[in-house]
Amino acid sequence: MKTKEPSTLKVVIQPATGMDLDEMVALEQVSFSTPWSRASFETELWGNQFGGLFTARENGEDGHRGRFLGYICFWTVFEELRLMNLAVAPSVRRQGIGTRLVRFVLKYGASQSATRALLEVRSSNVAAQNLYERLAFHRYGIRKAYYTNPEEDGILLRLEPLVKIEGEG
Ligand SMILES: CC(C)(COP(=O)(O)OP(=O)(O)OC[C@H]1O[C@@H](n2cnc3c(N)ncnc32)[C@H](O)[C@@H]1OP(=O)(O)O)[C@@H](O)C(=O)NCCC(=O)NCCS
Repeated sequence: MKTKEPSTLKVVIQPATGMDLDEMVALEQVSFSTPWSRASFETELWGNQFGGLFTARENGEDGHRGRFLGYICFWTVFEELRLMNLAVAPSVRRQGIGTRLVRFVLKYGASQSATRALLEVRSSNVAAQNLYERLAFHRYGIRKAYYTNPEEDGILLRLEPLVKIEGEG
């Protein structure tokens, strides 16, 4: 049986800044049929006291910023960690970066005393559902016709309790 080669990418996860906006907006546009606007990212960066926005980059040489790989956005609202947005650059998908970003945020949420993580995902988005289910998220409901363009149900996923996440990411 063919086994997958481990990724050689050195990934650094850091808080997003204004310098990441162009790349986040560009990745958002190629990743979603109803992308967030630049203003939405700006709000998450500077206008939301509950919001968190982190990027994944390749480890840069000599102090230079490395290649942009992806981002994750979340809200920590008391005991609840809400995963709001996640995307990985198409050229580096299936190398564990999405999983690293989610694990990073689960650890962060647990450190902020969140006890559960929640999100919704398009019913056709098998990639994201697989990713989350591999991290032990469970389906707990469905929102009929929640999404537009195209109209689609939203699958509600939950991880509770937020167990201690070991290892990288
Ligand atoms: C969903 C997304 C973030 C996954 O990122 P990624 O870095 O490729 O994910 P990972 O490499 O960590 O994948 C982990 C697991 O998820 C599942 N998965 C990921 N991509 C998949 C795909 N295209 N088809 C089926 N399963 C997939 C697999 O089980 C995978 O493990 P494996 O590669 O060992 O089989 C990425 O495809 C993406 O940016 N999609 C567009 C935006 C989006 O849908 N965001 C999520 C909104 S809820």
